[in-house]
Amino acid sequence: MMISTYDFGMIGLGVMGRNFLLNVADHGFSAAGLDLDPEKAAALEAEASGKPVKGTADTATFVRMLKPPRKIMLLVPAGKAVDSVIASLLPHLEPGDLIIDGGNSYFEDTNRRIEELKSKNILFMGMGVSGGSEGARRGPSIMPGGNPEAYRLVAPILEAVSAKVNGDPCVAHLGNTSAGHYVKMVHNGIEYGLMQLIAEAYDILKNIAGLDNKQLHTVFKDWNRGALQSFLIEITASIFLKADDQGKGWLLDKILDKAKQKGTGKWTSQNAMDLGIPTPTIDAAVTMRGLSALKMERKMAAPHYTRAVEPLPLADKEQIIGQVGEALYFAFIVTYAQGMHQLTEASKEYGYELNLGTIARIWRGGCIIRAALLEKMRQAYADQPELRNLLLSPAFHEPVLHGQHAARAIIKTAIDSGIPAMAFSSALHYFDAYRREQLPLNLVQAQRDFFGAHTYERVDRSGVFHTNW
Ligand code: 6PG
Repeated sequence: MMISTYDFGMIGLGVMGRNFLLNVADHGFSAAGLDLDPEKAAALEAEASGKPVKGTADTATFVRMLKPPRKIMLLVPAGKAVDSVIASLLPHLEPGDLIIDGGNSYFEDTNRRIEELKSKNILFMGMGVSGGSEGARRGPSIMPGGNPEAYRLVAPILEAVSAKVNGDPCVAHLGNTSAGHYVKMVHNGIEYGLMQLIAEAYDILKNIAGLDNKQLHTVFKDWNRGALQSFLIEITASIFLKADDQGKGWLLDKILDKAKQKGTGKWTSQNAMDLGIPTPTIDAAVTMRGLSALKMERKMAAPHYTRAVEPLPLADKEQIIGQVGEALYFAFIVTYAQGMHQLTEASKEYGYELNLGTIARIWRGGCIIRAALLEKMRQAYADQPELRNLLLSPAFHEPVLHGQHAARAIIKTAIDSGIPAMAFSSALHYFDAYRREQLPLNLVQAQRDFFGAHTYERVDRSGVFHTNW
């Protein structure tokens, strides 16, 4: 193919970058890939044989191959790598070219990059991409934000490669500046919450109801046919049945119980705190990853506290399976509610102008948190675009009222058995606090005023008061 004729460029030919690029090529766009490792560039060409795809390890050659205005996407690790790739590109670019950061970058870094590149007349777009390597290849959910003009340049490509739900592409321009990366960050916070809830459900079913991996597989497969239908429930069902290819038994039972994290869940919690928006289930998920990492200490503590609770006899299997399923549905709703609430507030704080219904719509397919529930959420926001919290939507009153009974029951059982259920508990406590008109925080206000003259408001008259206690 001639020079300057490629429609799209990708930098970073790891599995995500390579798969996204091949997906672009599958949809009739020519695409060039750059990786400083020549073996990766060669591997791309080998895999793309017959498609209009070219790989190179040379930045100048790569840029020359692209049709102006150039559309260059980065799938490199978040952080310094993004800045150094941008710096290496800049001498070769022309005004009007577009750089798209498709990694999990911190939204404030994205704001900085937008500003820095604006002065050089280079467009910069922060874009969340969800769905893992398989999603990148077959259709991810794509969360672009920033300059709408930049989005228009790549909209045909992004719409073609994204996942589809009933023919509807799982991509939309979400809002101003770093909106795309912010929405992806909260997506991941919700992802952490749902994964932790599923892990707790597994713990309860395995250690209180005594289910083995085959039975767990059947339960999750069954759930995936109903209201809980979702990617995470589906893959969990498969995980239970994976045999260990390096020994006897199931692979899951051989995996060390220390969960790693790359930061997006923690950023969600940190930023929720900054905004003053409670997201306790996401916080609990981040905390549990932290506790899981303390394997050595847990090992040291365990023998001293085995007698902390009397072991309970195994519970009634059928009853507990039903309760855990209903509790999961309840807690899933509450977790999405927390994340969406955070997005609502962030939209105001950062001027993103997010449309929550659009976000629910593009999360219905391709992404890690895709779930049947998202169609219900999309509908709720369509009915009430100004909805403050999903728990205020009439569509969720009944399922939440129903599911909370099961959540109470399994949390009590977990407590009596000494099994941590921090995510389930946080979801229930969030609900119990959110639905309660009167909380005991009048006392906190009194204490603040007592020791620090911080003042308080009264229920019976307006103004700000201080008492000499
Ligand atoms: C996605 C995933 C993806 C990544 C997570 C993992 O949406 O496709 O969220 O972005 O797998 O960021 O995050 P942790 O390593 O922090 O669990």
